[in-house]
Amino acid sequence: MILQTILPLWLLAVPALAGMTKTGTLCTVTPSGSRDDSPSIMDAFRECGQNGQINITSGDYTIARVMDVLNLKNCDISIRGKLTWNDDLNYWIRNSVSVTYAQRSTAFRLGGENFTLRGHGEALFDGNGQKWIDRNRDGSNMNGRPISLTLWYAKNVWIDGITWRQAQFWHTFVAHSQNIRMTNLDMKTVSNSRWGTVNTDGFDSWNSQDIVLKNWTVTCGDDCIAVKGNSKNVHVQNATCYESGAMVIGSMGNGVRETVENVLFEDVYTYHASNAAWIKTYPGQGYVRNVTFRNIKFDDVNQPIYVSPCIYSYRNCDSSRLKISDITWENISGTSRYNVAAAVYCSGSVPCTGLKFKNIDIRPKNGGTAKRLCTNINSDSGLDCTGRCPAGWVQQLSGNA
Ligand SMILES: *[C@@H]1O[C@H](CO)[C@@H](O)[C@H](O)[C@H]1NC(C)=O
Ligand SMILES: *[C@@H]1O[C@H](CO)[C@@H](O)[C@H](O)[C@H]1NC(C)=O
Ligand SMILES: *[C@@H]1O[C@H](CO)[C@@H](O)[C@H](O)[C@H]1NC(C)=O
Ligand SMILES: *[C@@H]1O[C@H](CO)[C@@H](O)[C@H](O)[C@H]1NC(C)=O
Ligand SMILES: *[C@@H]1O[C@H](CO)[C@@H](O)[C@H](O)[C@H]1NC(C)=O
Ligand SMILES: *[C@@H]1O[C@H](CO)[C@@H](O)[C@H](O)[C@H]1NC(C)=O
Repeated sequence: MILQTILPLWLLAVPALAGMTKTGTLCTVTPSGSRDDSPSIMDAFRECGQNGQINITSGDYTIARVMDVLNLKNCDISIRGKLTWNDDLNYWIRNSVSVTYAQRSTAFRLGGENFTLRGHGEALFDGNGQKWIDRNRDGSNMNGRPISLTLWYAKNVWIDGITWRQAQFWHTFVAHSQNIRMTNLDMKTVSNSRWGTVNTDGFDSWNSQDIVLKNWTVTCGDDCIAVKGNSKNVHVQNATCYESGAMVIGSMGNGVRETVENVLFEDVYTYHASNAAWIKTYPGQGYVRNVTFRNIKFDDVNQPIYVSPCIYSYRNCDSSRLKISDITWENISGTSRYNVAAAVYCSGSVPCTGLKFKNIDIRPKNGGTAKRLCTNINSDSGLDCTGRCPAGWVQQLSGNA
């Protein structure tokens, strides 16, 4: 109580420390030691976000308000500080900005054309994730729980060298965007309580194209890198994913026609994930085509290769008209947690065509041989199927099949 009443007075006494200074087209932000540095950062975006440079220097920053900046233009943003999104969960739940997709929302949104956001290996984003995890209590898609960073109608963007620790929800989301490079990123969200890290995805894309992700290390409790509806031309290279869902197409096709095409995932290592190289769709309309997973290595993955046209409900699988074609899995090796290497079920209405499996070496971690279950796939796939995959086969097993 006493602290709360004297803190504002103390703040009033040191206003000179606050802030943002502008020199020519360069805006420099320094930590104010206050409860909220977002006003200084928003000043910098306003003053230097077009044809300028923004330098958020080293030090500790507290972010207590949504930052939503959609008019960046020819701007280089450097961050060397640690930004902590505060733990006023009720504020964020009420005020996070909508990103439309599945009623999700975000705490920090950037849009515009020709900008960079570089952390030089020094920027650290801390979302107070444990507080969100404990509030969420293993629920799915809690309303108002904000995505850490969203690119929204962004074009020609480079994001580099940023570390995340304890994100609020998904670490990054790229929507309605084009020509996006995201390199050398390090993300980690874990829980020290009984509640899990549900929905802490590393990356999700939606309605976007021409995306390159390179050199990512992610520890999270959900999809590591998920390419969602209406994404095309996505290249993921050199990603290491712990405790996650690794490389994913989907989920997609939930009540709307959606497409994904031209995606390459390569040079990936994953440990203790649910799946490694997989495709999940709702029974819907649209297509997934021309996707390659290659040079994917892993240890202790629940069900490494998995394809489902009826994710989550595991029902009406054969009603799906979302066509999956021309998908290659090449050089896929590692250990499965149980005795299933691959479970591929395609819709009876639109069987999969052009699936190719080359050089697949998956062994159960406790020895024996791994099953390869397939239904409604092209017979020349190269996957040496050991039996049929039942409709509605689950994404994660709890023991040998
Ligand atoms: C930005 O600030 C850092 C200190 O955090 C400094 O080393 C760097 O030179 C500054 N960049 C510019 C363009 O002023
Ligand atoms: C973005 O950069 C491209 C290529 O340099 C340029 O053609 C375009 O005009 C720039 N966009 C804006 C809004 O300045
Ligand atoms: C890859 O990213 C990590 C940060 O996660 C960085 O430390 C490392 O230098 C990067 N490697 C290369 C080759 O850039
Ligand atoms: C690939 O990822 C590993 C693990 O993060 C990193 O050490 C290495 O520098 C990366 N290599 C390249 C070429 O980015
Ligand atoms: C398939 O996707 C790859 C990227 O993975 C791309 O280079 C290639 O051009 C695509 N093929 C077709 C026929 O579009
Ligand atoms: C698959 O692995 C083999 C052996 O390591 C390697 O020679 C080949 O280049 C790899 N294929 C691709 C597409 O990278």
